[in-house]
This record gives sequence, C-alpha cells and structure tokens, in this order.
Amino acid sequence: MQDILSIGGVLVTELKDKYQTPLYVMDESKIRANCNLMLTSFKHPNVSTEVIYASKAFLNLAMCQLIHQEGLSLDVVSGGELYTAVKALFPMDKVYMHGNNKSIDELYMALEYKVGRIVIDNPDEFKRLQTLVKEDYKPHLLLRINPGIEAHTHEYIKTTNHTSKFGMSIFSPETLDLIQAITSDSRFSFQGFHTHIGSQIFEENAFIETATEILKYCQMIQSKIGLMIHEINLGGGFGATYTSEDHPFDLNVFFPRLLDHIYQLSQSLNIKTPKVMIEPGRGVVAEAGYTLYTISGTKTTFGGKNYVFVDGSMADHIRTALYQAKYHAVIGNRLNSACVTQYTVTGKACESGDIIIKDIKLPNPLANDLLVVYSTGAYHYSMSSNYNRLLKPAVVFVKDGQSRLVVKRETYQDLLRNDLELGR
Ligand SMILES: Cc1ncc(COP(=O)(O)O)c(C=O)c1O
Repeated sequence: MQDILSIGGVLVTELKDKYQTPLYVMDESKIRANCNLMLTSFKHPNVSTEVIYASKAFLNLAMCQLIHQEGLSLDVVSGGELYTAVKALFPMDKVYMHGNNKSIDELYMALEYKVGRIVIDNPDEFKRLQTLVKEDYKPHLLLRINPGIEAHTHEYIKTTNHTSKFGMSIFSPETLDLIQAITSDSRFSFQGFHTHIGSQIFEENAFIETATEILKYCQMIQSKIGLMIHEINLGGGFGATYTSEDHPFDLNVFFPRLLDHIYQLSQSLNIKTPKVMIEPGRGVVAEAGYTLYTISGTKTTFGGKNYVFVDGSMADHIRTALYQAKYHAVIGNRLNSACVTQYTVTGKACESGDIIIKDIKLPNPLANDLLVVYSTGAYHYSMSSNYNRLLKPAVVFVKDGQSRLVVKRETYQDLLRNDLELGR
C-alpha cells in the first residue's frame, strides 16, 4: 500500500506544503456524488419530490455554487447563510428560510430577496412577519411542526421531543390556531409542514413514523378545517460514517420505500399525496471532508495518559467536546506504520475539553507527522470559532488530482478587522 494518503488524487503531503495546516480538505467528487445519490434515489413515480441541502453543515460561496450546479435547493437559517446564497447568485425561489428565532432583519431579508419558502416556527414569529409583508410578494409558508418522535441520537441533536425549542407540537391546540391564523391572512400562501427530528439517525423507522404522524396530522387538519396540505418537508438527519461503529442505512433502498409509504398511506387516509422534501446536510458533506493537522509532539502524563498534540483545536473541531463525537484518523504520511499506542489527540486551546479524538491507536507519532481526521465535512468549518484568537483554517476542494482554495486561511489582520482602539 502507498505510504502517503491521497484525497481526490492529491497527496496530503502536497496539500500541507501548498496550504499549510490545519486544513479542511473537501473531496469535491464525493460531494457531487452524494448530491446525485440524493436526487436520483429520492424519487417515486407518484410523488413529487425536492432535495434541499442544509447549508448549516458547510457553506461558503463555492459550496453554494456547487449545490446549484448539482440541482439541489438550499436551506438557510440565518441572515448570514442567506447573504452567502445571494452573493453566490443562488436562485432565491429555491431557498428555504428556516430558524426558530428569526430576527426582524432576517425576516425582512427573506421578504426582500423573495425566498421560495419561509418556514414559520411559532405564533410570535408569524406576527412579526405580518408586520413586515408588502404587496409585491406573497410569501409561501411552511409551518415547522413537532411530531414528538424519539430519534435515538445525542440529546443536543434531537429536535422533536416535547421540550424541544423547535416548532409547534402536533399535540398542542395552539398549533391549529396558528394554522388558522396563517391561512386566514390572504397575504400569505400556506403550503404545508416542515419537521426535522434530529441528526445522525440510523433508524429508518424514525423517518417512517415521522411521515406517518405528519400524514395523519394532514388528514386531521383537512377534516377539521377543510385545508389541503400541499407539501411536507421531512428535514435531514441521515446518519454518516465517522468510525466503524456507525452503520448508516442505504438511502438508495430507503428513499423509494419511504416515498412509497407516503404514497400508500395518503391514499388510504384519503388525502392528496403531498410533495415531499428532504433536507440533508451531513449526508451530503460529512464523509467528503478531512482535516489535516501537523503533529508537534506527544506527552505522557504522570497519570499515564498519552497525548498527541496537533496544531488545531476545539476551535476548528468542536463536535468531540459538544457531543462526545467519535472520529477515525491516520498518520497520513506513514500509512504503513503499525498502530501501536493508544492516544488522546488534543490541540492548542486552553480547555481540558479540547479533545479532537478521545482514544485512538496510532503509530508512535514523530514531530511534523501529518494527522488526517476523517469525516469532518459537516459541522466543522461551519462550527469553527476564533477561541483563544486562533485562526480559522483554509478550505480546499480536491478533485481529479487538482486542488483549489475555496476559503482562505485567516490572518492575524482578519482577527482585528472589527476591533476598535479604546482611545483616550
Ligand atoms: C431544519 C434542519 N434541516 C436539516 C438539517 C440537517 O441535518 P443533517 O445535517 O443531520 O442532515 C438540520 C440540522 O440541524 C436542521 O435543523
């Protein structure tokens, strides 16, 4: 086996020489293949469908343009994500504006740019929107509902238990009141429901049950107030592989099954089969991403714990601290060296929780070795921070043996760009 790892046909040692570390590397062909898989498998002869990329997973101008080229729509959740889409010339009618707490400014932006759908979270937000809407554009709305499905995933990435901050419970009478308030205001066009039950889900049944509950809710709404639901958006959450413990289900098999279930159930409930959307983020980018770090050294503590120190930190890799997420990594310049010692990989941040990988067997690292962490394409660059005034890494796309910079590494000048002197 070759001793040096290559990603998208480019040796990691070349990437390090050209762009330095820490470095986020995205395999462009993998992202495109994942987009294609979602589009081609999320299809059914009797159900109209749409695939929306959840940009919170990983977004910048180049990524936005790639998503447009691949034919997916875009989920944005903030003014910043929407602004990125605007600057990337993403078609606004394919943008879904989400968020449980959109500010007046963000709602105003959504109206100004005439986004395709605004997803309402709660009655207060709808009232805010009512004060802003003008005559030149009739917003199409979805309502985020919460079907109370328990997805078995980390507490922080579950979104539909009864205490979740997201959306309106299908069990609450307030939800029906809100639907009636929306549909009785002729300045809006109500299209249907959105939900998102959580992230990194490996149980097909959680999605099937969600679809079932939503369709039953559609039937209840139809029989109670005579309202036909045109669209249901089932959100994202499809699991990705981080380590050998993860076993995502096959979307090629599952999506047609899910859509067929929706078709059959809507027939038997005697309601119109709605258009169905999904909103994957992680499923599109997680496994396409790698983080390259330079190893500076190791340390064995008095208590016998072995650390590997790398030139990044929780500022560019927060998911281990946040969700106890697990990762696989290799020494990318010495693939053939035997993994002999158990290490904890840590970085430069002044926190004991600054852990990149808690326990991993690696070859004994040498100074300047290159640690490559796998599956860092989702919620890494997008969750990175400047804690400890650390600089955010560059992002590089690799494909067919070529690399190109899509986000520059931050500089110390960037860190100060918004700072003002105290003066006298
Ligand atoms: C509303 C919504 N849609 C889609 C997603 C994407 O989820 P995932 O990246 O797990 O596919 C999220 C993630 O938090 C979300 O909140």
